[in-house]
Amino acid sequence: MINHTDSNAFLIETDNTSYIFKVLPTGQLEHLYYGKKLTVPEGAEEENLDALTEKHAFYPGNTIGYDQEHLQYSLEDMRLEMSSYGKGDIREPFICLVHADGSRTSDFVYDSFEIKNESLSLGYMPASYDESGKAQTLCVRLKDASYDLLLELNYVVYADCDVITRNARLINKSEEAVQIDRILSMQLDLDRAGYVFTTFRGAWAREMQRDDCLVTGGKHIASSMTGTSSNRCNPFFMVHPIETNEDAGEVYGFNLVYSGNHYECVEASAFGKTRICSGINPESFCYRLDPGESFDAPEAVMTYSREGFNSMSRNMHRFVREHIVRGEWKKKTRPVLLNSWEAAYFDINEGKLTRLAKAAKEVGIELLVMDDGWFGERDNDSCSLGDWEVNPKKLPHGLKGLADKINNIGLEFGIWVEPEMINEKSKLFEKHPEWVIQIPGKPHSEGRNQRLLDLSNPEVQDYIIDRMSTIFGSANISYVKWDMNRIFSDYYSLHLEKERQGELAHRYILGLYRVMKTLTEGFPAILFEGCSAGGNRFDLGILSYFPQIWASDDTDAMCRLAIQTGYSYGYPMSTVTAHVSDCPNHQTLRITPLETRFNVAAFGVLGYECNLCDMKKEEIAAIKAQVELYKEWRETLQWGDFYRGKGSAAMPSVSASMSGTAAVPYSSDNFSEWTCVSPDGKKAVGMVMQRLVVPNSPFHCYHARGLKGEALYHFYNRVLKIDVREFGDLINTASPIHVKKDSLLLDIIAKFVKMDGETEDVKASGDTLMEGGVHLKQAFGATGYNGEVRHFQDFGSRIYFMEECE
Ligand code: DGJ
Repeated sequence: MINHTDSNAFLIETDNTSYIFKVLPTGQLEHLYYGKKLTVPEGAEEENLDALTEKHAFYPGNTIGYDQEHLQYSLEDMRLEMSSYGKGDIREPFICLVHADGSRTSDFVYDSFEIKNESLSLGYMPASYDESGKAQTLCVRLKDASYDLLLELNYVVYADCDVITRNARLINKSEEAVQIDRILSMQLDLDRAGYVFTTFRGAWAREMQRDDCLVTGGKHIASSMTGTSSNRCNPFFMVHPIETNEDAGEVYGFNLVYSGNHYECVEASAFGKTRICSGINPESFCYRLDPGESFDAPEAVMTYSREGFNSMSRNMHRFVREHIVRGEWKKKTRPVLLNSWEAAYFDINEGKLTRLAKAAKEVGIELLVMDDGWFGERDNDSCSLGDWEVNPKKLPHGLKGLADKINNIGLEFGIWVEPEMINEKSKLFEKHPEWVIQIPGKPHSEGRNQRLLDLSNPEVQDYIIDRMSTIFGSANISYVKWDMNRIFSDYYSLHLEKERQGELAHRYILGLYRVMKTLTEGFPAILFEGCSAGGNRFDLGILSYFPQIWASDDTDAMCRLAIQTGYSYGYPMSTVTAHVSDCPNHQTLRITPLETRFNVAAFGVLGYECNLCDMKKEEIAAIKAQVELYKEWRETLQWGDFYRGKGSAAMPSVSASMSGTAAVPYSSDNFSEWTCVSPDGKKAVGMVMQRLVVPNSPFHCYHARGLKGEALYHFYNRVLKIDVREFGDLINTASPIHVKKDSLLLDIIAKFVKMDGETEDVKASGDTLMEGGVHLKQAFGATGYNGEVRHFQDFGSRIYFMEECE
């Protein structure tokens, strides 16, 4: 709900939050409050605002008084809805413009407002959307006091998600061009300092490592300069008091609907106020706005909860599921897939892929994905990107021939593409060297031997749309993995005038959005999966077109625990894809139990990425059982509410996240717990994972989350059969004859004798499971083993099921 009061204040309300600002006598917008919903007796609204307003009598020493009539106002010490450079506010600006006369001072003051019963529309740039007809937008128009420029600040309200989004549109009404050096999307000023700025940083294969930083003074910046939203720092972030934890305390969550270079800043001012802002990274951006033109900053997303990080995450999850992800796959059950990458890398062909498909069918997998290597001369990563023609030696019957074979085996068929890229060694480069991002006549730096096509050029966009449409339409393709494997360097577009080169990074992203929009609308039945060397472009812009994203090239279950925990703060698990792979793991050489690899991957959108044809019979049998189990529970796992439990405490050690060993996410204890609860609260899946065995420490208590307190639940596990070889020569403590470790005899015994794993089976109320917890069966502690003991080794884990009793 949006209200405008007689004193020119704006009150925005969601189900549980209020956001309030008002027009100052100077025309600036003073931010008054963002937090828990304020209930105010009818008729007392105006008086109530007075309590929220700072009372200024004289401006502080050595600051700037706004003007002679308003000497009480120093913009440096006011809470503002947006701030510009030049009128005394020396903090982080929202907007920086260079006017035709060379001046860099802007002064946007209130002009008018409008309330619309709709969400934003930003052309090809994606924005949140609303199907319920309930979303409202407040548009506040500001105009520059000295130049003919309009700035519209938009606030979209999604009441039931407790989300408010913001964006800014600059309109040049003057006769002269203006240079935009910076235009952010969101600014929020809070009246105290000392908040924690939590960001999610990393690199390739260790994305989304949580980093907490206390901001008591100065500016702290999170940003990306990779040209993508990046694995170095995701655009999602949180700001909260130091005491906030998963289940209690205040927290603000923010994100940006954008896939390019972004910028987030939290600044504690000299006067002890905090300014939070986010938007396009000004470092790599400079835009000429001609007379009559307008510029849209991407949409920023804000949410608030006073019930801890889990509650904030659920607001974000609901918002992403309902108002970002769109199209046929928005709520459709995601298939279990087998991807060929870690199974064969570039060495694929029709025979291998059909054999993989048959093995996949045997275990219940539903979709075979042919990854990189199927086109041009692509036997390694040095060539052929751009030449999207089937390699006839590898696929003699073409895409259609292969797709038909896979379909006949009973699987859907999917392919991998990387359309934004080109290798110098390609026919496309020979034909169109001018389509590539490069500085004319200068040496070019490369990443993975490849270059970026210039997506700011509509001709290049059309080419990609055309080529991809031909491929997607040439066979029964149900799924497309859209990859993007290098970051930007040597920024230069031959398509843009030299004065406009600072626009390239942003125009690339707009071009990408046009391509994505056209293709996803042209092929609505295809399930698109975003990928950028794993999670180098995991953001709300991509999710507006592709409903799921390959979260990381790292498939090690321990690393994935941290990575998926990181994503879960801002993104629902229906958007996070996760695969079970072979061991030793290809990224870490670590060996983790197959059960654990499944347990972790099952909390995302499950797939497999291994050579099933080479796996042992027992592994195949285990995978078959996993797939069956996942299918039984996937509605809960894909669409349920995800909760972090133990093992996600704040303030990780820097050394742990740098070394990539923050595998148990930031945990001072040795366990991590996740719970996923079906939307109706009747079913839940829990997971407990252990990092390293601690000897003689047998008891663990799992605490569920999100259940209905009074309902009675049946809590149980999947009873496992344990391979006797897991016990090494301890077998001799039970065997009547001596059995040598690693012997043929032990292998034969292992075929016929399995040890019973522990059984968990209790009935308890939701409250009991959440507050008291379930005291699990004792873990192995070297004093004995039977079916009452939990065999729980290094990287051991269990999943548990909870069902409401009728
Ligand atoms: C990077 C991706 O993240 C991998 O999954 C795989 O598709 C390779 N690219 C293929 O080149």
